[in-house]
Amino acid sequence: MDPASSPTRILFVCLGNICRSPAAEAVMRSVVTKAGLASQIEVSSAGTIGYHVGARPDQRMRAAATSRGYQLESRARKFVPEDFESQDLIITMDEENRNAVLGQAHAASHKAKVWPFCKFCRHHQETEVPDPYYGGPEGFERVLDLLEDGCQGLLDHLELEKAEE
Ligand code: 4NP
Repeated sequence: MDPASSPTRILFVCLGNICRSPAAEAVMRSVVTKAGLASQIEVSSAGTIGYHVGARPDQRMRAAATSRGYQLESRARKFVPEDFESQDLIITMDEENRNAVLGQAHAASHKAKVWPFCKFCRHHQETEVPDPYYGGPEGFERVLDLLEDGCQGLLDHLELEKAEE
């Protein structure tokens, strides 16, 4: 990637922005930092509902993430249509999130920025990152397994894209 060009901005989106997308943000930041690309890839997250705006990530998600070495520092915010302009890639956790985001996209160029997270997974067959909110601790571990797979896949995809430019 060219350090002189402006950073690629990636926004992860789930429903509440307190479980899956803040964890995706932390896992991706870790992957990007380890690759030495922190100045070239900016990562953040948002939710399609505003119910938890301003809240820290869910304590159960933080605990599971911390035990794998990820710090979840974000505060919940709601996805806004302006994100279509400010972000380069908008990556949704499940079909409901994807439909909620696409429902706010009016330009083809905006729709083209929206991708399902699981498209980037290479070792898991799931098509969605399941919502862990109403389940047990194993659901949070499952989320992290998928996120670690897909974030590495996403980084490789971005590096390949840049190499082909
Ligand atoms: P997230 O999980 O979308 O991964 O942040 C949820 C958080 C909150 C709720 C549902 C899912 N909720 O119903 O409040």
